[in-house]
Amino acid sequence: MEIINPLEELDEEELRARLEGAALPTHVAVIMDGNGRWARSRSLARIRGHQAGVKAVREAVTACREVGVKYLTLYAFSSENWERPTLEVRALMQLLKNYLVGERDELLEKQIRLEAMGRLDRLPKDVRAELDKTMALTAPHDELTLTLALSYGGRAELTDAVRALVAAGESDVDEGTIGRYLYAPDHPDPDLLVRTSGELRVSNFLLWEIAYAEIYVTNVLWPDFRARHMYAALLDYANRERRYGRVSAAEGGGR
Ligand code: IPE
Ligand code: IPE
Ligand code: MG
Repeated sequence: MEIINPLEELDEEELRARLEGAALPTHVAVIMDGNGRWARSRSLARIRGHQAGVKAVREAVTACREVGVKYLTLYAFSSENWERPTLEVRALMQLLKNYLVGERDELLEKQIRLEAMGRLDRLPKDVRAELDKTMALTAPHDELTLTLALSYGGRAELTDAVRALVAAGESDVDEGTIGRYLYAPDHPDPDLLVRTSGELRVSNFLLWEIAYAEIYVTNVLWPDFRARHMYAALLDYANRERRYGRVSAAEGGGR
């Protein structure tokens, strides 16, 4: 389906200027999709698309850090992605490891805290070790919390939460109780959910947390995603009216 985002026609400078004083989301979550199609359109192996996607990750992180978004959560590898061909999974794990080592200094310099959410025990040991190291080193920072959803599934997260709260003997369960047993209980819910490559689905991402997130879909394939695309999404968000099931403020809002 053709999705038209007119703000993506503007250049980075213009978008930055328009973002001055705009209402920014506190938490942006991104489904980074389209690496395979990007590669195929160039007659390259899928893995080359994943490699090219690393630059887009850097751009998205820097763009959010620059304008003051406080939480950025990136869907990097889903529970279901384990079912991909072994070579692709292996390449993704290697790329992740390279990212965790290669970006460490940059994250420290920019005072970005790295976190991860998902069934991390399924990650290869060497990847897990680099992840733990980067998380420990960046833990004191709070300019931006960058969370990688790895081996992540929304239903798995809810299942793990329910298991943990049953094990803890919780009774009298309400929405707050469930929230406290999610993978990142201290994170605010995402305000804005971005998906690249034009797919109109959630693919098991943050099912509980996106209850009232604003959704922005772009046709841009993830490896082509640049700071200006993030700024366009942020500006689009700033122009939305969030109603949370209530009546529009223009019609008297609230009670
Ligand atoms: C997203 O790109 C990366 C991961 C899911 C790890 P895809 O690999 O899903 O790319 P497409 O959807 O096949 O184009
Ligand atoms: C979602 O993309 C998962 C990540 C971005 C890591 P997929 O490509 O795996 O999802 P589907 O298959 O399009 O639903
Ligand atoms: Mg995909």
